Amino acid sequence: MKANIESIFNEFNHQSKYVGHSELSSGHINDTFLVKTDGTHNYIVQRINHRVFKDVPGLVNNKILTSKHLISKYPNATEQELNKTVLSFVKAKDTAFYYHKENDDFWNVMIFIDHSITHEIVKNPEIAYEGGKLLGDFLNLTSDFDSSLLIDVIPNFHDMSSRYKQYTLSVQNALKERLNKAAKYIQIVADLKEEMHILQNLKKAGEIPVRVTHNDTKISNSLFTKNNKGICMIDTDTVMPGIIHYDFGDAIRTICNSGAEDEKDLSKVEFNLEYYKAYEKGFLEKTNDSLSKTELKYLPLAAKTMIFIMAIRFLTDYLNNDVYYKTNYPEHNLVRSKNQFKLIESFSKKISI
Ligand SMILES: Nc1ncnc2c1ncn2[C@@H]1O[C@H](COP(=O)(O)OP(=O)(O)O)[C@@H](O)[C@H]1O
Ligand SMILES: [Mg+2]
Repeated sequence: MKANIESIFNEFNHQSKYVGHSELSSGHINDTFLVKTDGTHNYIVQRINHRVFKDVPGLVNNKILTSKHLISKYPNATEQELNKTVLSFVKAKDTAFYYHKENDDFWNVMIFIDHSITHEIVKNPEIAYEGGKLLGDFLNLTSDFDSSLLIDVIPNFHDMSSRYKQYTLSVQNALKERLNKAAKYIQIVADLKEEMHILQNLKKAGEIPVRVTHNDTKISNSLFTKNNKGICMIDTDTVMPGIIHYDFGDAIRTICNSGAEDEKDLSKVEFNLEYYKAYEKGFLEKTNDSLSKTELKYLPLAAKTMIFIMAIRFLTDYLNNDVYYKTNYPEHNLVRSKNQFKLIESFSKKISI
């Protein structure tokens, strides 16, 4: 539905006059617009996808609490400096941090961080290193933030037991033809099952603490300067309680695949050890003081586990006849799954756990 961005922007509390807007295309979940004004700031106007997110007011509250906490870490910063380093949200005229007309979309507005760029893929180790620092900073600065104040935006999002249960059901109900094509991978899942539950079990046993986590740590959710210096992480829609391994592991999964997620030619899918090392270095520089020994010990396993979770999610959808992920051809999900299993194989050759 085509929205009137100017009138939505004017539902928010700001002193600026709308001059024009453009749609930013790099996001995959929300619709994001850059609004240019005659004032000090330009703004991001975002339609929040309420089909993906069931409790949008709760989600927005998570984002606001997170920003507030981050802001509290810079007591001496001027407002101008803060607006360049932390997502700063703008209240709507009715004082909520979102605008919502009945039976319509939810919108929120934040200050546009000027002179920033995003990367769709990592092109050199420097970007990986800076990306690692940004996640490290995010987790370090939120390490004293009570995660029970946040709602579970997507319950069981990275939960291995529930993903594994869904997978088992899909195997039970799958068509014979699909089962046959997946047979090799079903065996690999069985072989890895125990190891892939280690993190989950440590979490359950309280040996790895539940904290505030970002949960969507691909590189396109970080802002950089044009000289490849990290500015901050963005897209805090999925901030919720979790373990740091979800964040580290998913970042590595997306950054260190030398091929696209649905590359059919598996010889092109290799684990990029150089990017791993660079990301890990940046991450550790910022987190070393706030991570426990156990958290540190399991970082490599986190990478393997997050790749595995995606591998079984794609495999599950293939066995369920492609009901969740959009597919462009009949074996698209199987290809995606094989791709992740190849990444695990390559990872295991380069990193011993
Ligand atoms: N505060 C901001 N300052 C500058 N650019 C931003 C800001 N927030 C979002 N963007 C831009 O908008 C894009 C989409 O935003 P994002 O929150 O990641 O949406 P999605 O959930 O759809 O991925 C980002 O990739 C980035 O280019
Ligand atoms: Mg995003």
